[in-house]
Amino acid sequence: RLSNVDILAQKNAEAELGGGQKRIDAQHKKGKLTARERIALLVDENSFEEIGKFVMHRTRDFGLDKEHYLGDGVVTGYGTIDGRLVYVFAQDFTVFGGALSETHAEKICKIMDLALQNGAPVIGLNDSGGARIQEGVLSLAGYADIFYRNTRASGVIPQLSAIMGPCAGGAVYSPAITDFIFMVEQTSYMFVTGPNVVKTVTHEEVTAEELGGASTHSTKSGVTHFACANELACIQHIKQLLSYIPQNCEDDAPRLPYEPGDESRPALNSLIPDNPNQPYDMREVIDELVDGGSFLEVHKNFAENIVVGFARIGGRSIGIVGNQPAVLAGVLDIQASAKAARFVRFCDCFNVPLLVLEDVPGFLPGTDQEWNGIITNGAKLLYAFCEATVPRITVITRKAYGGAYDVMNSKHIGADMNYAWPSAEIAVMGASGAAEIIFKREIAEADDPQAKLHEKVQEYTEKFANPYRAAHRGYIDEVIMPDQTRQKLLRAFGMLENKVATLPKKKHGNIPL
Ligand code: COA
Repeated sequence: RLSNVDILAQKNAEAELGGGQKRIDAQHKKGKLTARERIALLVDENSFEEIGKFVMHRTRDFGLDKEHYLGDGVVTGYGTIDGRLVYVFAQDFTVFGGALSETHAEKICKIMDLALQNGAPVIGLNDSGGARIQEGVLSLAGYADIFYRNTRASGVIPQLSAIMGPCAGGAVYSPAITDFIFMVEQTSYMFVTGPNVVKTVTHEEVTAEELGGASTHSTKSGVTHFACANELACIQHIKQLLSYIPQNCEDDAPRLPYEPGDESRPALNSLIPDNPNQPYDMREVIDELVDGGSFLEVHKNFAENIVVGFARIGGRSIGIVGNQPAVLAGVLDIQASAKAARFVRFCDCFNVPLLVLEDVPGFLPGTDQEWNGIITNGAKLLYAFCEATVPRITVITRKAYGGAYDVMNSKHIGADMNYAWPSAEIAVMGASGAAEIIFKREIAEADDPQAKLHEKVQEYTEKFANPYRAAHRGYIDEVIMPDQTRQKLLRAFGMLENKVATLPKKKHGNIPL
């Protein structure tokens, strides 16, 4: 008979082998790591404490009474990343394809409950064939238990989802509710229904990768925030993101030590082209303003006409939203509005101050945009800024036209400090469009309509295509030279550090969805 010590050692070894060596080899052959290998890469060395290692399913149907694996297809527990507590679950594809059973779900729920009560992030490493088919509704109930917890924890603790294999059907909705999704190129996919069902219902022929791979979801749908080249890169991205955000909604993001130096950034003085129709890359502005190399772009390849991401300024974590003149002239459309709104709301949930860099010619016109709801979607971004109570600073680099001027964190909707560069044009629209409308008759009746138009455009430009009208009113707090911007931001974010602002008492707002 084995000693108690040997029994425990044997059980530990059995649990650690998951679905067995053959299936582990198959996992590796697909270019995928196992659940335990992923956790080992994610958390600080020797910091992981596993919970529920010997849990087994309770199903008796379809021969499952004879097939048990200790841990039941998911490794759960807690550990630290850069010394900070995190809760982790990693689905084990070697056990029933990582399929979710009643007990598998219970294990996930247990760490979610602990994370919520103790105020630390939850990281889910997903790799699963979906609901455990042999369990039927028990498995569906397990999913719902997770969705319910995801929603209740939303805005209280950060929730991050990495998709490192299949994630289909009901399984997609837990990641969808969480704050950020990371996908691995080529080895992961997410869809509500797979290629076979798609073919039957819509007669479309599509591969899993095309339908729901990392590149699809990072460019077309925006479902994923990060498409990572491989699993290691994915895990590194998760760690990097965590470094910018707090443990929970009552905490502040970690602050790095910072030595003040020469904060002037002369390159910014020559970055804006003289011709207002010529593009430039807002990322270049961001790189000059933030602490060297600290910009982590979110949703990099989706709705590229707006740039969002985290960075540090003077060691402090901030969220940046910038119009991108290099793509579609930086116009706001449905996808850009929704992308930025979600980012703003995340930052506001978790006390990350916001910097808005504005160069926006307005909203994108057209039937496609109107029929698909640019009104509702543009309102999301407007609403998100209006309700945000974190410190909020705007820098207008060039265009701030029309309703988009109001939307992009204007003074009127609660921004704390609004700066403009001398190149700013704060007006209802561009000078030529404006002159054509308001001087229509004068131009038509002129001997030389072209010359008249030119004259009127000049007149409008002189009057309105500048930051001074807005500065006279106090809508702009200061017109600053571009090279001084970083210094101004360092001081202003410091000045706003202890900002307290509250919303009127309510159950919750009703953001246009
Ligand atoms: N329930 C129970 N077992 C499942 C499962 C599920 N949902 N999904 C996969 N498995 C099991 C398989 O039976 C197989 O078991 P085995 O190792 O004993 O042979 C193992 O997991 C691996 O699956 P396999 O199909 O060999 O892997 P694959 O990489 O070729 O394909 C999937 C992966 C996810 C595409 C495929 O397994 C699949 O289509 N699963 C069903 C998806 C589904 O419809 N889920 C229910 C709706 S949410």
